[in-house]
Amino acid sequence: YLMANHAEPIDVVVTGAAGQIAYSLLYQIAAGTIFGPQQPINLRLLDIPPMLKVLDGVVMELEDLALPLLREVLPTAEPAKAFNNVAAAFLVGAMPRKEGMERKDLLAANVEIFKVQGEALDKYARKDVKVLVVGNPANTNAIICSHYAPSIPKENFTAMTRLDQNRAQATLAAKLNVQVDKIKNVIIWGNHSSTQYPDAAHATVTLSSGVKPVPSEINDDEWLNNIFVSTIQKRGAAVIAARKMSSAMSAAKAAGDHMRDWWFGTKPGEWVSMGVVSDGSYGISKDVVFSFPVIIKDKHYEIVQNLPISDFAKSKLDITSKELEEERAEANNVLKK
Ligand code: NAD
Ligand code: LMR
Repeated sequence: YLMANHAEPIDVVVTGAAGQIAYSLLYQIAAGTIFGPQQPINLRLLDIPPMLKVLDGVVMELEDLALPLLREVLPTAEPAKAFNNVAAAFLVGAMPRKEGMERKDLLAANVEIFKVQGEALDKYARKDVKVLVVGNPANTNAIICSHYAPSIPKENFTAMTRLDQNRAQATLAAKLNVQVDKIKNVIIWGNHSSTQYPDAAHATVTLSSGVKPVPSEINDDEWLNNIFVSTIQKRGAAVIAARKMSSAMSAAKAAGDHMRDWWFGTKPGEWVSMGVVSDGSYGISKDVVFSFPVIIKDKHYEIVQNLPISDFAKSKLDITSKELEEERAEANNVLKK
C-alpha cells in the first residue's frame, strides 16, 4: 500500500477510448490487474472529436470507480498529447467489422489511423513503449504502425491474437471436461483472421494422473484438424452474428492478458501467442506481424524455437503467411493513394 503511494506513475494510452472494448479495458488498467497492484497509472484516452462528449462520460465513470492507483486522466483527440511519454499503448481505436465482412475488409478504413499513430509514437512516446494493436486487421496495422515509428524497436510492436488463444484453450478444456487453466501451450500461428492456425499439437492437459499431451487425450484427429480449427477461426464472426457487435468483454480481457504477460513475463514451462514482427523463424517471411508462441522474461519476448511442425501444420502456416504478405502489399497501396 505504501509502495503504491510512492511509486512513480506510468503513462498509458488507450485509443478508441470511447468505444466498447475500451469500456471493459479501462477498468482493468485502473484497478491494477494489468500493470500490478503497486503501479500508479496516468491514463491518456484518445478518440476522435465527435466522441469527446461520450469520452467525458467515461472519464466521469473512471473518477467514480474511486481507485487509488488511477492518478491523472486525460481525454483528448490529439495524438501528440495522447502519446506523450507513454510506456504502454493499447491501440484499440478503429472501425469494427459487421456481419459478412472479413477483418481485412477494414484495411482501407483503418490503416491510415495506424500510420498517424505510428508517427505520433515515434515523436512522443518513450522509446521502450510496449505497443499492443487490437484494432483490425491487427497484424497488418501493427506492421504499418512500426514502419512509421522507425526510432522505436520493431520488437515493441505486437498484435493481439490472445483472444484466439483464450478461445482455443476454452474449447479444448470443454472438450476434455477440465477447468480452463488445466490446458497449456496451445498455439495461434499467423494472422488474426480466418486463416489463423490454432494448433493443439504441443498443448498439454493437467489431469490427476499427470501432465498429458492434448492430442492423445482427445484422440480424434478429425475433430482437432477440422472442427477445432474452424471453430476458432470463425469464433469472432459467430459472436458478431449473435451480438450484432464484435466481441468486446473477451477482447478487453485478452488485451489485459497480453500486456500483463509482456510486463511481468510468462510462467515457467509455458508460452503464449502474440503477433510479433517475424524474424524469419519457422520459414515465415520477415517483416510481417505473425503470431508465434513466445516466452517472455524481463519485458522481452523470444519466439519459441525448434517445435516440430507437421506437413499439415506447415500447409496451414503457408496459407496464413501468404495472406499477411498480401495484406501488407494492400496496406502499402492504400497509403500510397
Ligand atoms: P467501437 O466502434 O466500439 O470503438 C472504436 C472507437 O475507436 C470509437 O470510439 C471510435 O470513435 C474510435 N476511433 C476511430 N478512429 C479513431 C482514431 N483515429 N483515433 C482514436 N480513436 C478512434 O469498436 P470496438 O468494438 O471497441 O473495436 C475496436 C477495434 O478492435 C475494431 O477494429 C475491432 O475489429 C477490433 N477487435 C480486435 C480484436 C482482436 O482480437 N485483435 C478483438 C475484438 C475487436
Ligand atoms: C474478434 O476476433 O472477435 C475480433 O477480431 C472482432 C472480429 O471482427 O471478429
